This record gives sequence, structure tokens and C-alpha cells, in this order.
Amino acid sequence: MTDKYTQFVSRGFGKDIAKRLGLPQPVVLRRHQPGEPLVRGPVLVQGSGGGADELAAALLSWDLDVRRHAVPREKLGAIILVLDEAARPEDLEKPVLAAAASLRDLAANARVVTVSRAAAGAPGPAAAAARQGVDGLLRSLAKELRAGATANGIVLADGAGTTSPSALGALRFFLSGRSAFVDGQFLTVSTTAGQQPADAEKPLAGKVAVVTGAARGIGAAIARTLHRDGATVVVVDIPAAGDHLATVANEVHGTALQLDISREDAGARIIGHAVERHGRLDIVIHNAGITRDKLLANMDQGRWNSVIAVNIAAQLRINEALLASEHFRDAPRIVSVASTSGIAGNRGQTNYAASKGGVIGMVRATAPLLAAHGGSINAVAPGFIETEMTARIPFATREVARRLNSLQQGGRPGDVAEAIAFLASDAAGGISGEVLRVCGQNLVGA
Ligand code: NAI
Repeated sequence: MTDKYTQFVSRGFGKDIAKRLGLPQPVVLRRHQPGEPLVRGPVLVQGSGGGADELAAALLSWDLDVRRHAVPREKLGAIILVLDEAARPEDLEKPVLAAAASLRDLAANARVVTVSRAAAGAPGPAAAAARQGVDGLLRSLAKELRAGATANGIVLADGAGTTSPSALGALRFFLSGRSAFVDGQFLTVSTTAGQQPADAEKPLAGKVAVVTGAARGIGAAIARTLHRDGATVVVVDIPAAGDHLATVANEVHGTALQLDISREDAGARIIGHAVERHGRLDIVIHNAGITRDKLLANMDQGRWNSVIAVNIAAQLRINEALLASEHFRDAPRIVSVASTSGIAGNRGQTNYAASKGGVIGMVRATAPLLAAHGGSINAVAPGFIETEMTARIPFATREVARRLNSLQQGGRPGDVAEAIAFLASDAAGGISGEVLRVCGQNLVGA
């Protein structure tokens, strides 16, 4: 599905017309291309204190053009606002207003990233107020940015610092084109676990990953992205999708497993296939999902049960098998696909939203169980993504749904895949039990 409107208003005549009529002006987003620079332009690190200094030093080691003070009229690729030492709301003023003075100098598709501390661990009400204040600040700023620029935040829990491996991993993700459709969101780094990859272009080298529902749509995009990042990929889908599944498996030089994930023995089959064919299992992506929409007043047992069975009960059962398996103990990673419907609700989707809300609850409760093996589990919640599913929405409804986010466009399957690939990597090892929305900061349930 192509978004012809975004292409039309991105340049020349179309751009002029949209501007004059006050129409939405989405731009073509900067997306990751192997070999491309992390950011386009210098990176300004705002904020005083040891955490900001250490972060700036780390960025220099990535060969970025780092500034500690703005250079007048210089176009910036990113602003990093380090607020980890804010102890009272008044402490936000200096660094925030210093960064404000540079906002007009942001280049197209630039990035703003805040780094702050978790309100939950604050030593008192004033510190909690300052920390929670960053939440509102960041989400509002994301709504002010234009031209494909995004703002996202890294939250450090007690024990994590500005240069903890996953703080740097999250920073790299947010700065890069991999996070093109992630806007107004936070990632909490809860531990100092995780490590930077030896090769930034192949962060999943040596890993074996399973992706369910991979015959088409978002699942196929996940398989391609994990393969690009160096993983050996097993693609799983129902037997009826066998032909498409084989095509995807060939494309990613992986193997196909025809399997209905709601079968009792699905977990054992997945582990068995990965270990027999590839010798190990490191990553499981729960992507397979179905919708059977109906208003609750008209809901029947079949629609309710099938959605719960595929979207959440199957994942719970497979996870039980994974947790019990001796083959899933070497820093294992699970990433599950939720949905913004499971967070904000959606008319006609009570069954689907219950299942996707269920995914979020499951992820939070499973995180401590995987921690024992140095593992992690997270969810990604996509918003409006251009797929066969959303192409079937009637034109006017689709056009409205697609513009109702800060980036004024739908995301691509690859955008969801990028977030999943990051959370499946060791760079995200200190992030667990989190839900990352890939929704362009959807105005619904923002
Ligand atoms: P899709 O319908 O294009 O693909 C889903 C795949 O899962 C299909 O290949 C299907 O055969 C497979 N599948 C279904 N039941 C299965 C089962 N029992 N066992 C094995 N495979 C099974 O869907 P799409 O759009 O690619 O969505 C992927 C995931 O993303 C789903 O979990 C969906 O709920 C979620 N999502 C999608 C959004 C969108 O805008 N497209 C938005 C939010 C979430």
C-alpha cells in the first residue's frame, strides 16, 4: 500500500498547495539504509553534570560530530537533552530552554532524545515531579516537531547510568533511521545488562530467531530485517500459507515451519525445529495475530475465542515451553507484537484489544522469569501500519486514521520490524518488560 498523498506533498507544487491550504504536510521519513550515517549533521548534547559528559564522550567514540554548545545557525542532526540530575522541577529550566533555542536549527528528519531518571525510584516528591515532568515535556515536544523529526526518551531506572550498554543501545536506535516511525515514546533501561554489538550492521550475527506469522505482512518484514541484521531465521505460519512461507524462507536463506501456533505442542515443535536444523534458539518473535471484529453487543463465542486463542493463549503456552527448555537459556530474547488497540481501545475490537492488552500483561509478568537466564521480553505496539489489513479499510476512514499521528502518515511493516530487531538484540539486554509503541505518536491513547 503506497501513501500517494505523502509523496505528492513532499516536494514542489504539491508541497506549495498543501502549505497554502493548511493541509497535513507529511514528509518521506529517513529510514535506515545499511552503510548510511547514524544521524545527518552534528549532535548537540545539552545538560551539565557527569552523566552528560560521559554520554558526549561515548558519542565521540561513535565518530559523531558532537557539540556541547550550539553554534549559531548550524543545522543539527540531533539534540540530546540529558536531564538525569534534575532534583526539582525548577532544575529543568536551564537545559530545556537551552535546547529550545536550537530547535529551529534542527535539520529535516532530525532527532531529539531526552535522558532522564525513572520517577518510581525518586528520593522524594520534588525529584519525582521533575522526573515525571520530563514525560509530559517530551510527549508535547514530539507534537511540535515537523519535517519528519521525532522526539523520544530514555528513562534510567536505579542502577542504570547514561552510558549503560542499553542506554547507549536505545540512544543509537532513537538517533538512527531504524526508529523512523517511533515518536513521543520512552524506553526504560532497568539494568546494566546488555552489550554493544561487535559489528553495528550485524547486531544479530550468530543468533537463531523464530518469527511466527511470517508468511506475509509485518511478520515477513520482521524475518527480512532479522536476516539483514545477521540472524538465521526460522519462519512459522499455518499450513494454508505454506507457499508464501516458503518464498519468505528462501528470501531470508532460512527455514520454514508450517505450524498452527495454537496447537498444544507448538512450543515443543518450535524448539525442536530450531535446535535440529540450526543447533540453537536465541530469539522468538510472537507476531502471528488475527482480528475478528464485531461490536461487543454482537460478539459470538467463535470470534471471541479464536482471537484470544491465537493472539495470547498460544503465546503463553509457547513461552511456558521456552522457559522450561534447556535450549533457551543463553540470554534468550522474546518480543511480542501487541497493538495500540490494546492500550487505547478501538471500537469493534473488544476481543482483539483484550488479547493485545493481555500481551502487555504477559510481557511484564514474564520479564522477571527470563531475567534468571540473562534474558529479556518486550512488546512492540504498532499503530496504523500500511498492510493488506489496513488497505481493506474504506478510503475515508483509512485517510483519517493514517493522518492521526504526529508524523501524519502510516508506518511501514519495516518500521515495526526495526523496533523488534533492536529489542531482540543484545544492545537492548538491559530493557525488559517494556512496551514500545511504533505509531508515529498516534493521537489516540497517546
Ligand atoms: P497479517 O494478517 O497480514 O499476517 C498475520 C500472519 O499470521 C498471516 O500470515 C497468518 O497466516 C498468520 N497466522 C494467523 N494465525 C496463525 C496461527 N494460528 N498460527 C500461525 N500463523 C498464524 O497481519 P499483519 O498486519 O502483518 O499483523 C501482524 C501482527 O501485527 C499481528 O499480531 C497484528 O495483530 C499486529 N498489528 C498489526 C497492525 C497493522 O496495522 N497491520 C497494527 C497493530 C498490530
